[in-house]
Amino acid sequence: MTTPDEIKSCCAAVYGQDAVALLLGESYHPGGLALTRRLAGVLGLRRGDRVADVACGPGTTACALAAEYHVTVDGVDLGESTLERASAAAEVAGLSGTVRFQLGDAERLPLPDDTFDALVCECAFCTFPDKTAAAAEFARVLRPGGRVGITDVTVAETGLPQELTSLAAWVACIADARSIREYTAILAGAGLRTTRTESHDEAVARMIDQIEARLRVLRMTAPDRLADLGVDADAVLHYAALARQAVADGILGYALVVAQKP
Ligand SMILES: C[S@@+](CC[C@H](N)C(=O)[O-])C[C@H]1O[C@@H](n2cnc3c(N)ncnc32)[C@H](O)[C@@H]1O
Repeated sequence: MTTPDEIKSCCAAVYGQDAVALLLGESYHPGGLALTRRLAGVLGLRRGDRVADVACGPGTTACALAAEYHVTVDGVDLGESTLERASAAAEVAGLSGTVRFQLGDAERLPLPDDTFDALVCECAFCTFPDKTAAAAEFARVLRPGGRVGITDVTVAETGLPQELTSLAAWVACIADARSIREYTAILAGAGLRTTRTESHDEAVARMIDQIEARLRVLRMTAPDRLADLGVDADAVLHYAALARQAVADGILGYALVVAQKP
């Protein structure tokens, strides 16, 4: 039996590993920075806005939003080494004055009430064991009229094949992913009214292709590096094949959801 705290710390520990950066690249979500820019456009970010990035990962989104939309960003993540990576990225980009990062849990955000014009949460809401608590936190920190933008893995309401519900699948954002309808219902329960939903299922298929391609190249050219990083290439390829099939079967997808605090 895995407890919610074990799921959260396992997730934070996995995403803090160098192997994840090696396999996923700069952004840890399907669609990469292109989908982040789409999200920023739909959210209507404006110069001077205050933005929260919940489960900010390596800081790529926070830095891009600050540099391109001239907003200030507060990034929160549960992974200490992930946050070190994020702070280093902001420093290299000369954004330390406008982007800052804090250790914290999405279900108990270390952020003030009624403050943010927008909140983004990419490929992480699906991993929170208590999604209702996280949605309530989103609503608490947004100012009235503020918008939340989520991009996340979706699962058809018929459910996943058993093999895709393990702890590894949980960490890979699959096991507790929901349908768009369920995500909007959870947000509505926190008083956040959905104003837009979009399907981006092709982004998951592209991400699986990218992980597989990188892994196959590394297995041929740098097997020692993979071993040093503790990557079990066969296991990853096995899960990738299952996930690809689930996408082809219409079970697994990716969605953008925007909602507003009244
Ligand atoms: C798939 S990564 C996405 C990172 C980033 N949003 C991106 O798209 O590049 C998931 C992130 O969620 C973080 N995370 C998981 N559970 C969390 C929680 N309860 N509170 C805050 N961060 C969490 C992990 O540490 C990891 O950095």
